[in-house]
Amino acid sequence: MSDRKPSPFPILLNNDICSLIQAAENVYQVRFKNRGANAYLVRGKSRTIMIDVGLSSDYPSLLECLHHLDCPPEKIDIVVLSHEHIDHIGAAWHFGGRTLIAAHRLASNKIMLRDDFSMLRKMFNEPNVPINVDIWLEEGNLLDIGDFRLDVMHTPGHTSACISLFDQGSGLLFAADTLMPGGVMGGVFGSGSISDYIHSLERLKGLNSNILLSGHGRLSDTPQKDVRIAIQRSHALLSDTGQLFDALDARSNFEPIMQSVRDLNKLDDN
Ligand SMILES: [Fe+2]
Repeated sequence: MSDRKPSPFPILLNNDICSLIQAAENVYQVRFKNRGANAYLVRGKSRTIMIDVGLSSDYPSLLECLHHLDCPPEKIDIVVLSHEHIDHIGAAWHFGGRTLIAAHRLASNKIMLRDDFSMLRKMFNEPNVPINVDIWLEEGNLLDIGDFRLDVMHTPGHTSACISLFDQGSGLLFAADTLMPGGVMGGVFGSGSISDYIHSLERLKGLNSNILLSGHGRLSDTPQKDVRIAIQRSHALLSDTGQLFDALDARSNFEPIMQSVRDLNKLDDN
């Protein structure tokens, strides 16, 4: 017999692709069973938003969950993208039109420039669909949707453009790939930095959060514990990374890049 305590979060729907789970009143997680990131629906009194939407190829399953909640895409006012990775944003183009798409300024820039490298499009083998961002967010913005007032926090580290959303009133913390249940780390990609990561986690530690709603994995009702573990692990990653860089021959790695810069500069001289 398992001694694991039962999850306090009810499952409303379960199919081969995803589960629909209630995180709190009017807050739902769509948890994909493949590589798609978690999508969240938050129904405020005045506005309904989604935070991340998963892969484009999983859209039919996302739609099934939304219909189950009697909340088809036409009822969604804003889709907020936590960062530029395609496993979080791929399905956003399906919402284009009436629904506004929002992301941090740095993510918006990458998405609008169709920066496939930053978005990891090849890694996820997703179709090349145009996602357009309408609202470029900054640290300190506030999304007041009635009942929920979500603070936009710029929490770089996983990438330069990650945001977390925090509702003081309910203690809900949407932390995407910055903080995950059990202190699992989302890793440091392209534009990211392990030092920024630690700084962002320290900021999240200071919040009076009750429920952690992450980009991957289950919901967690122990965010304070999760963030402490994540900080310990990220310090270990920082020292591992230092050793790794010491071991690499930096000169030979940077030489091809510097040569291409020199070649490009020569073109300007002519
Ligand atoms: Fe990510």
